[in-house]
Amino acid sequence: MNNLTSDHSSDILLEAHNISHHFDYDLFDNINLTLHKNQSIAIMGSSGSGKSTLLNILCSLLTPISGEVIFNDQNIFNLSQKEILNIRRDFFGIIFQSHYLFRGFNAMENLEIASLLTDEPIDHNILKALKIDHVMTQGIGELSGGQQQRLSCARVLTKKPDIIFADEPTGNLDSTTAFELMDVLFDYIQKNDAGMILVTHEEKIAQKCDIIYELIDNKLIKKEL
Ligand SMILES: Nc1ncnc2c1ncn2[C@@H]1O[C@H](COP(=O)(O)OP(=O)(O)OP(=O)(O)O)[C@@H](O)[C@H]1O
Ligand SMILES: [Mg+2]
Repeated sequence: MNNLTSDHSSDILLEAHNISHHFDYDLFDNINLTLHKNQSIAIMGSSGSGKSTLLNILCSLLTPISGEVIFNDQNIFNLSQKEILNIRRDFFGIIFQSHYLFRGFNAMENLEIASLLTDEPIDHNILKALKIDHVMTQGIGELSGGQQQRLSCARVLTKKPDIIFADEPTGNLDSTTAFELMDVLFDYIQKNDAGMILVTHEEKIAQKCDIIYELIDNKLIKKEL
C-alpha cells in the first residue's frame, strides 16, 4: 500500500519484543513485530492458534507471560493501570471479535459517547461510507449483525486513534460490504498517519495489508505477498 522505509524509526507506532504467552498450554513464544505509520499488518492463523490473545496483548488488555510492547518509547506493561487506560482511550481503537455496543443507547448515542470521551467530532462521512447513516436513530437491538459491526468500527474511528486493533471486523459481512468496510479503515490510516493490526481468516482481506503474518506452531511467520 505504501513505500515505507522500515528503518525510519520515527515512523514506528508500536513494537513488540519477545512476546510469549500460554494458558494451560503454550500459545506462542518470542513474537516480534513492528508497526509503522500508514501501515497495516494482517495476522492469520487457524482457530485457537492465539490470534485474539496476541491482539489483546498488543493493545494492552492482557499482560503477557514475558516480553514488551513499546508505545511512545515506553513498555506499556510497566505503566500504571491509569496510564494504560489513558493510552487506550486516547491512542488505541480496538474493534473486538464480539462487538460491545451499549445496548441501552441508540446507534448515534453510542458514537456520542466515544466523541465525548475523546473530544473528537463525529465524522458523518464515515457513517455514509459505512452505509449506516440511515440507521443512526435505531436501538442497538434493531440493527443487523453487520450494521452493529460497522457501527463499532465507526465508534472506534470517532476516537481518532493512532492504532486500530481489529479482530475479525468483517466476520459478519458479505464480501462487498467487507471490502467497503476495509476501504474505510485503510483510508482512515492513510489520512491520519495511523496504523492497523488486523486479525482475519480471509485471505483476500489480508492481502490488502502491507504485511501478512501467520500464527502457526507457536511462531509468527511472515507470509510472502
Ligand atoms: N482467558 C483465557 N483463559 C484460558 N484459555 C484461554 C483464554 N483465552 C483464550 N484461551 C485459549 O487460548 C487459545 C487461543 O485463543 P484465541 O482466542 O487467542 O484464538 P484465536 O486464534 O483468536 O481463535 P479464533 O480464530 O477462533 O478467534 C484457545 O485454545 C482458547 O481456548
Ligand atoms: Mg479470535
